[in-house]
Amino acid sequence: MLNRYIGPDKILEKKKEYLIPCSYHFYHHPPQIVKGDMQYLYDSEGKRYIDFFAGVSVMNCGHCNPEILEKTIDQMKTLQHTTTIYLTQPIVDLAEKLAHLTPGNLKRTFFCGTGTEANEGALLLAKLHTKKSEFLSMYNGLHGRTHLTMSVTGLGMWRTDPNPAGGISFVPNPYCYRCPYKSSSEECGLECVSQVEAVIKKTTSGNVAAMIAEPIQGNGGIITPPLHYFKALKEVLHKYGILLVIDEIQTGFARTGKMFAIEHYGVEPDVMTMAKALGNGVPIAAYTTTDEIASSFTRPSASTLGGNPVSATAGIAVLEYIEENKLCQRAENLGKKLKQGLIELKEKYKMIGDVRGMGLMIGAELVREGKEPAVKETDLILEFLKDKGILIGKNGADRNVLAFQPPLVITEEDVAALLYHLDEALKKIKG
Ligand SMILES: Cc1ncc(COP(=O)(O)O)c(C=O)c1O
Repeated sequence: MLNRYIGPDKILEKKKEYLIPCSYHFYHHPPQIVKGDMQYLYDSEGKRYIDFFAGVSVMNCGHCNPEILEKTIDQMKTLQHTTTIYLTQPIVDLAEKLAHLTPGNLKRTFFCGTGTEANEGALLLAKLHTKKSEFLSMYNGLHGRTHLTMSVTGLGMWRTDPNPAGGISFVPNPYCYRCPYKSSSEECGLECVSQVEAVIKKTTSGNVAAMIAEPIQGNGGIITPPLHYFKALKEVLHKYGILLVIDEIQTGFARTGKMFAIEHYGVEPDVMTMAKALGNGVPIAAYTTTDEIASSFTRPSASTLGGNPVSATAGIAVLEYIEENKLCQRAENLGKKLKQGLIELKEKYKMIGDVRGMGLMIGAELVREGKEPAVKETDLILEFLKDKGILIGKNGADRNVLAFQPPLVITEEDVAALLYHLDEALKKIKG
């Protein structure tokens, strides 16, 4: 049978000619992905892959999930788009559902199209509410591509803007594996939180509106703060009247074993941003806040496509699917198995320096002697696993962290297959 796909080589040729060259791809020999079915992807040769990256934490409910697709397609056939100048139901139903699911008093939502836009909006809201204008952000955080969101991003490789926004101070992130204060988890006195207070006093005018932070830093290398971190951080911020904006764009929607990762830390953000998995492949993003903070934003604002009937219907279908299929529990249970397997591999191979994360958001940092980042080895493992039919991610400031963020519908067998082939890959590289 004649292959109807143009294939990876032709795609690379067209990409080179027609896309802006800032768009990179994984792998020396990348496949052309042509089909998705729950936790599996298929290439143009018919080869099946277990997807352990979910398009960067997006496809939590699985690729082409039939239940979500059916509801979304029904809506597409009935009413696609009107903008918020006309009244439609899905946007208010989704907002109501989010009000019930988000922590504490978070209740009022603004919908938009991408995570970047949600963060940009959340920071604007913080300025309007506090009537202050500076921001704090963390080393290794990633928050978007626009001028301001790129300027609060703490990863050099994603800070392309040669003239970043001013009024932003960075604080050390809780990167326990490479703790700059040489603390161990047993004796951690949260020096990194004390540093936040020092930064507020020393490098700002005292005019700070908000601090933005991911509960677990995704692109930064699945950096997972200790469980007492955010309470202590919020106390410091509260002392100076600074809002806490929590970016759940990568961690949200059952990924870490709870609907939102910040719930593990027992604090209520002032504003929370969401995107990626809320649409399970349909573009939708949002920020949610309290009645009080929302009351500061009354001048007109609109995102043309934000929360339109199709994306809002997809969002509702996603939330229903997560609840009906108990995906939080599933992420927690399978995440424990995956993490345990990775810890066993860490005991076998010195190259795995650290295993961290929660639920099905797990990272394994690869190192050589003296914790030197094992960058080349990370790429070799990605390529080896891809050839064996498993796609994983990589991240971290040095790109030496293997990232495991699969659709939450994977099975125990999929986890076992990953661990088996990862063992083989590590054995091969070591040998
Ligand atoms: C934590 C976090 N915030 C913001 C963004 C930006 O989201 P988007 O690409 O939808 O604009 C990303 C994207 O990877 C992210 O991981």
